[in-house]
Order: sequence, then structure tokens, then C-alpha cells
Amino acid sequence: MTGLAEKLAETAEYLRQKRAGRPETAIILGSGLGVLAEKISSPVAVPYGEIPHFPVSTVEGHRGRLVFGELEGQKVMAMQGRFHFYEGYDMGKVTYPVRLMKELGVKFLIVTNAAGGVNTLFTPGDLMLIRDHINLMGANPLMGPNYSHQGPRFPDMSEAYPGTLRALGKRAGECLGIPLQEGVYAAVSGPSYETPAEIRYLRAIGADAVGMSTVPEVLVANHAGLQVLGISCITNMAAGVLVQKLNHQEVMETAERVKEKFSALVAEIVKGLGTAR
Ligand code: HPA
Repeated sequence: MTGLAEKLAETAEYLRQKRAGRPETAIILGSGLGVLAEKISSPVAVPYGEIPHFPVSTVEGHRGRLVFGELEGQKVMAMQGRFHFYEGYDMGKVTYPVRLMKELGVKFLIVTNAAGGVNTLFTPGDLMLIRDHINLMGANPLMGPNYSHQGPRFPDMSEAYPGTLRALGKRAGECLGIPLQEGVYAAVSGPSYETPAEIRYLRAIGADAVGMSTVPEVLVANHAGLQVLGISCITNMAAGVLVQKLNHQEVMETAERVKEKFSALVAEIVKGLGTAR
């Protein structure tokens, strides 16, 4: 992938000049979940538009900036807003920030999203630890020349979300009295929501939640050797589960309702990562 190494070096250098520090943990904040970034102390916030080689986010509910600083005594960087495939970004752009995380020396990635509940035992407002995923986006960010600086041509994905980190996530939930679901996240391209027939299909193949993000970032993170922990906020029941139709407003309203619980959980997980090493 000609030029990627140079671009990453330039982006990293720009952020070093901004005194971004050396984060160990990166957090990608999904739709409506950006509030966690406000808990970061001594923050250095850099809007995506200022960062060399960064795309610009377009979706409502996404602030579009990187925030560097400390959370629970740990050095972190948070992405407030991500790049979606459905916005028209190619997979290289969608995952550029994850390549950057590796370049900056990040070890752990906490990836979050808003998702529809496919498992009928779920309720909107539930938080789900991602155990595994199914990629139905019709594309893979690792296609094309292998970026061998960061990882192998055929990366293993048999433990994309390591059990050790999921156990840490569960302990954080227990410690705060926040019940957690656990399940499989299916990624589709969007932007249309699914049909009821597609949701029956997703359930049949083992999905518990569905969304339009996360999997590209997790593929690249695994390629680059980052350890990933994923959390879905179930913002709505998927199409056909209930009689009502789906809309983005419901997604944002549920995210708004759970944002404190969600932020507390992620902060507790970050604290746990500090002692897990
Ligand atoms: N489907 C796909 N993506 C989503 C949904 C959904 O029901 N809810 C939030 N993101």
C-alpha cells in the first residue's frame, strides 16, 4: 500500500506537535455515545478537519474530533465520531484512524456502537459485550496489498474479541451493578435499515445485534495486533421484532438515555485495563 506508511507518519507527527502524548488505550465512540470524551482530563482535542489525511465525519450525533488525555489514570485517545462505509468512505478511510492508533503505540481498542437488537430477549437500552462478529458488509478493509508493517496477509480472527478482555468487561459491569448482555454483532453496510426478512436471516445465522460499523475497525485492529473489546448499545429492536417502524431519532434517544451508564462502564473498563497489564 504505497504511501500509507508516510501518511501515518505525517499524521502522527502532527498529533505529537499538538502534545497528544502516547495513548495506550483507544476508544471509538458510537452514535450518541460521544459524551465519554468529556470525562477525559487534561484533554487535547483535535477536530478531524485539522488532521492531515483524516476524512471528515458527516453524520448527525458525531462531533468529529480526537480527544487525547487521561481517563482513570490511563493515557487514552477517544474518537468522538467515526467514519462509516455508508457515508461513501472507502474501507481504507474508514479504518485509517485504527492504523493511526497502532502507529501511536496503542495496545487496547474499546470499540462502541449503536445497534439494533436481533435477539428477542434484548430490550432497548441494554448494553452488549461483543463476543464475535459476522461481516456482511460485502467488503473487507484488508483487501488490496498487505500493509505488512502492521500485520500478516491472512490474519487469524478466531479470537477477535479476546475472552480476557470480555471477562474484564463483565467484572466492570458487576462492580457497577450494570447488567450486560453478550452476543454476536452482525455488520451490514446500511444506510437503509434491514427488512424483517433480513432480520430473521440474521437471527438464523447466529446474530444477536445488527449495525453499520465496528467490523472494519476490528478487522484492522486485529491485523495490527491490538486487543479489542466491543460494546453495543441496543438502541432499538431490529426490524420486524416489534410493530413500530425504525428511525434514527429512536437510536439517538436511547443512546442519550443510557449515556451515563455507558460512560461509567467504559471508564471502569479503562481502569481495569490499567491493572490488567
Ligand atoms: N440496524 C442497523 N443499524 C443500527 C440499528 C438497526 O436496527 N440500530 C442502530 N444501528
